[in-house]
Amino acid sequence: MAKEKVIVTSALPYANGPIHLGHLSGAYLPADIYVRYKRLNGDDVIYICGSDEHGVPITISADKEKVSPQVIIDRYHEANKKAFERFGMSFDNYSRTSLLIHHETAKEFFLEFYNRGLFAEKKSLQFYDDQAKMFLPDRYVEGTCPKCGNEEARSDECEVCGSLYDPSELKNPKSKISGGSPTLKETSHYYFPLGKYQPALEKYVDEMNEKYGWKDNVIQYCRGWFKDGLKDRAITRDLDWGIKVPIDSAVGKVIYVWFEAVLGYISSTKELSLLKNDPDLWKKYWYDPDTKYTAFIGKDNVVFHTIIFPAILMAWNQAGKEQYCLPQNVPANEFLNFEGKKFSKSRGWGIDVDEFLDLFEPDLLRYALAANLPETRDTDFYWKEFKLRNNSELADILGNFINRTFTFVFKHFDGKVPASGKLEKIDEDMLKEISEYPERISDYFEKYKIRDGVNEIMNLAREGNKYFNDSEPWKTIKTDKERCGKTLNICLQAIYTLAELYSPVLPFSSKKLFKMLNTKPVEWKECGKPHLKESHQLNKAEILFPKIEDEKIESQVNKLQNSNFQKETEELITYDDFMKVNLKVAEVIEAEMVKKSEKLLKLKVKIENEERQVIAGIAKSYTPETIIGKKVVIVANLKPAKLMGLESKGMILAVETEDGELQILNVSEKIKTGTRVK
Ligand code: MF3
Ligand code: ZN
Repeated sequence: MAKEKVIVTSALPYANGPIHLGHLSGAYLPADIYVRYKRLNGDDVIYICGSDEHGVPITISADKEKVSPQVIIDRYHEANKKAFERFGMSFDNYSRTSLLIHHETAKEFFLEFYNRGLFAEKKSLQFYDDQAKMFLPDRYVEGTCPKCGNEEARSDECEVCGSLYDPSELKNPKSKISGGSPTLKETSHYYFPLGKYQPALEKYVDEMNEKYGWKDNVIQYCRGWFKDGLKDRAITRDLDWGIKVPIDSAVGKVIYVWFEAVLGYISSTKELSLLKNDPDLWKKYWYDPDTKYTAFIGKDNVVFHTIIFPAILMAWNQAGKEQYCLPQNVPANEFLNFEGKKFSKSRGWGIDVDEFLDLFEPDLLRYALAANLPETRDTDFYWKEFKLRNNSELADILGNFINRTFTFVFKHFDGKVPASGKLEKIDEDMLKEISEYPERISDYFEKYKIRDGVNEIMNLAREGNKYFNDSEPWKTIKTDKERCGKTLNICLQAIYTLAELYSPVLPFSSKKLFKMLNTKPVEWKECGKPHLKESHQLNKAEILFPKIEDEKIESQVNKLQNSNFQKETEELITYDDFMKVNLKVAEVIEAEMVKKSEKLLKLKVKIENEERQVIAGIAKSYTPETIIGKKVVIVANLKPAKLMGLESKGMILAVETEDGELQILNVSEKIKTGTRVK
């Protein structure tokens, strides 16, 4: 494949608090793995990020601490930049939106549109705090979402259902400053004509999806907004922290943070160009509509990257001057939770990157997070699982394969790569297996299936161990030293391949491993070939993945169990509460697929003499044939609901296994339907 020109960006985190594991899993680690892979692949990549230093999240943090916003952003910009470095993030530039270069970029866009008469100036009602005498945009107001009922919705946007609405539609609004109910007061703002761009945006999203296969969740969000109809968006705010609107008459107004923050990707690239003494470098990437631009984000940022940012760039491109590239893909991740609950800084639930890295090596965290990325659904970080990933995968599979091979080579072959000699079938099979990995992994990575790619690499180490066992070098060393050498030669070639395949995921360990191998990585697609020459001198092995001791994990778990948040939220129920749920045994007597759905089965179940219809989301794990005749447990008194227009009365109990399969709870054939479960 020809070399690609690639821009990768990760959402610019607000500089208002420390980076935690949830952030890493969303927009950072997957992007870093992708970028490191692309670099090895020989592509021409720049990786851009920086701090988002404007907007209400910053001023709220400043208000809380009673310091100026500048104090907050200076503190967290530095802290987050360092934490990312410790974690091994390989940004080409980590900028900040308070820089002059960013302010100028944002103003340039704003004025270009203003001068072209693109903005409408409209009066509207905005929340106002009479006590504090200030307008309350965005997160300064919390209330109930008019669409989904989420009680923590913001003044004009709901993070839970993704809707955008008018402040006057928000129910039970509360001021974050005084806690009181704000009033609505008239003010005037500039509006970006998002509605006008809807047809072009729909075309863009469809085209990108067709060519590059966008993730389902991202497409669903986009379709939802298109269906509701895009509304023109106010892109100014009544605040004094931010980029001043560059128009004399707009006193006390700043540019809306999202309008300018997304432009931070461009200004950060401009800064990179200056740092590299090549001021026009950024144009080579951004002013090329064919640049492969991928924007990694968390799911709460989708609308800004698939609709607002593209619309801004389209509007610029329409003038017929420079042509910016638009995102080709926006692989938004779901969220990572912490031990079953949402990360919450205010309640002390979760762990910061810095705290974590004071306890464990960065690669262990990178591996545990990468193997469990919330790519298709929310996932959790559990301490016990973290230990297991390290001890039974990194240490027992990968580490063990490396160790036993190196130990043998040093003991019997003076630490030199033995000759490969005459190959037998088992050797040829193994070499072939090794050679197929680079492409297989790159197929996953190119499709942004980072988690699957990472988990697949471990299979090569598993194969390595199996090959080692089957070849029995501990026997052949005594009977046929040449044959033993050949086995070890091939094991070393596999270790070389593993060192390279893992380098995007475990950059620190991979570097050590290459040092042990006394060599360097090659271009990605070459790394499955045998590169180590006969007699090549290796360096002494070091233990790359020591086991994590139980006590170290226990102490973290205990800390959590004793935390106030755990006690507060662990609500106990009485037996009576439990008995409100009417669980009954039922038998599935009919089943068919629900048309146009991959997940749903339409079932008829029998409970004593009653028959009822239940729509169950189990079609990925059960065919109609495998479910008919099964006895199951159903929640019999669940309020009826409609799924894809079909009535469902009740819910079948099932568990989700680690790989996302659903398994129905089994009930013995002998139990009569209608029997209560208690
Ligand atoms: N600061 C935002 C957040 O943390 C993300 C901004 S992404 C950008 O949710 F593109 F606007 F910069
Ligand atoms: Zn909502």
